[in-house]
Amino acid sequence: MFRCAAVVASLVLALAAQAAETVYLETLDLTKMRQGYGQAQVNQSIREKPLAIAGKAFEHGVGSHARGELWVALDGGSDRFSASVGIDDNAGGAGTVVFQVLVDGKLRFDSGVMKPGQAAKAIDVDLRGAKLLLLLAEDAGDGIAYDHANWCDARFAVSGTAPRAVDPPDDQKVILTPKPGPQPRLNGPLTYGCRPGNPFLYRIPCQGTRPITFSADGLPASLRLDARTGIISGTAPARGETVVTLHAENAAGRAQRSLKIVAGDKLALTPPLGWNHWYAHYDRITDAMMRQAADVLVSSGLADVGYSFVSIDDCWMNAERQRDPLRVGPLRDDQGRLLPNKHFPDMKALTDYIHAKGLKAGIYTSPGPRTCAGFCGAWQHEAQDAGTFADWGFDLLKYDWCSYGEVCRDEQEPEKLIKPYRLMADLLAKGPRDIQLNLCQYGMGKVWEWGAGIGGQSWRTGGDLGFELSRIFEIALRNCELRAWNGPGGWNDPDYVQIGKIGNAGAMGEPKDGPLSPNEQYSFVSLWSLMACPIFYSGDMANLDEFTLNILGNAEVIDINQDPLGQCAAVSPIDDQSFLMVKDLADGTKAVGLANRGQFPKTLTAPWRLLGVGGKQTVRDVWRQKDLGAFEDGYTTEVPRRSVLLLKVAPTR
Ligand code: GAL
Repeated sequence: MFRCAAVVASLVLALAAQAAETVYLETLDLTKMRQGYGQAQVNQSIREKPLAIAGKAFEHGVGSHARGELWVALDGGSDRFSASVGIDDNAGGAGTVVFQVLVDGKLRFDSGVMKPGQAAKAIDVDLRGAKLLLLLAEDAGDGIAYDHANWCDARFAVSGTAPRAVDPPDDQKVILTPKPGPQPRLNGPLTYGCRPGNPFLYRIPCQGTRPITFSADGLPASLRLDARTGIISGTAPARGETVVTLHAENAAGRAQRSLKIVAGDKLALTPPLGWNHWYAHYDRITDAMMRQAADVLVSSGLADVGYSFVSIDDCWMNAERQRDPLRVGPLRDDQGRLLPNKHFPDMKALTDYIHAKGLKAGIYTSPGPRTCAGFCGAWQHEAQDAGTFADWGFDLLKYDWCSYGEVCRDEQEPEKLIKPYRLMADLLAKGPRDIQLNLCQYGMGKVWEWGAGIGGQSWRTGGDLGFELSRIFEIALRNCELRAWNGPGGWNDPDYVQIGKIGNAGAMGEPKDGPLSPNEQYSFVSLWSLMACPIFYSGDMANLDEFTLNILGNAEVIDINQDPLGQCAAVSPIDDQSFLMVKDLADGTKAVGLANRGQFPKTLTAPWRLLGVGGKQTVRDVWRQKDLGAFEDGYTTEVPRRSVLLLKVAPTR
């Protein structure tokens, strides 16, 4: 009897196996596959070469790139998933990848770290009854360069509903932040640095329905305030500190806030906030686009929460060769003076335009003979160019290493790394304007240790984030390790905020929706706020949708970034996928991040002892601008996948 049943059962299974149909992974909609670089390829590698792992060729498969992520709805219709995974033989570098397969949230396959030349690992996973499959090609911790991840011979045995590639579960763009009310809300830094006697310009950031009437108590005599625009201008006062009380009033109410003006040697007492053209427009940037960015910074309300810089990046000068003939021309005039290209007819008029709105203007060059995109650099014209930038009226200079390596070959480190930046910082400091210096040399020679000492206001801590967008959590963790070197006057800069419509860094493409999920986009700004680093939005200002604007423009989030202590959050790991971030604020309260970089929601706790506080604490959800209640000992909540929950914790009154 028993034997008979067993025979019947195995017959049924055999029949089912026979009935099962093979569906290859590459036949699914691969546009749903998110990955750190390029687009998933059918039956070929990410480089569009035949698929091969350790000398073995494969006819079928998907060529992808870490961090890769594909969600597949199974609806109980698939029996098995099998594949051979590894790094493609044509990767041509030292890429490393971890392949994982998760079924209904449970890890069912983990390849461990795979290296180039390593034989493929076989995946064979039972899917009977399963609803959702997740295929991951994770960066193995060393960045995603050369991480060419192959899913070879990847197939489903299907006996019911066919598998479908789907969007990740959290793909809805939810607007969390309430719209600002009609009454005035004064925002912006509480401390502001300037050099005595230099031109002074400050637009008071203030939300609320216009018209708003601005006034100020205690404004130094050398400054005047335009009551209608809220723009303070004039000449920076003599060395010393002045506390000014700013007032704003409209039909719906009034507000006040103090601003400490510190005239001395230090600029950037809080991290600079603004917009930079690079990741949106690359070598397509024009004067008209810069003006439009300035317009939108004001019309969108971003200037009302404190964004003030409108910065040109590379490609505004002439090059010897360029795809756009209007960017080719003489590099300098017969006096050696730097010449903008035909897309920038009048640099002074451009900064005048930006300044008339109370905003600041940023510019870019390289200490080398050429910029990274091949345009004229400052080499052997440093003093002249510093003078030109001041004459034109710029307020920030991004100084990008680029071709400098070619002209300093014979010099010794660390001096050769420091020299060009010290030279430019000295020139700018002696100049007639406050011009902040951003050291862009990707973190070489531990720039954070000497950047402030030689007179820089911010320094990039790594390479171009546009190439590593899928690693924003990891980049943030690395940046937090440098927290000791972050503070008023000198800021670690992990590069620009890339949410909303951005170009593809690899292809310098036109702006479109970037690769980050809505949660990751919130996390971007949560992390940058907790790290107290410069926030330069680098997306398309002409296509700023409501979702993006809501993420960039939350005044309470920006307040955390602009806190006068200037502290970068300290990180306490919770487990390998989650961590706690704690940032002390000047008023004695704490900004807290609960970060989950895993693929599924997780319950996480911020224990008061790790915050250094005790007793009842009121917890505020900063994105929703809503108090969540008073809690003893700590706060526990579920954090969505790949998210940072941003909280403020203050003693309960
Ligand atoms: C890179 C720099 C980018 C951008 C680009 C322009 O070196 O890191 O931020 O400025 O050059 O060519």
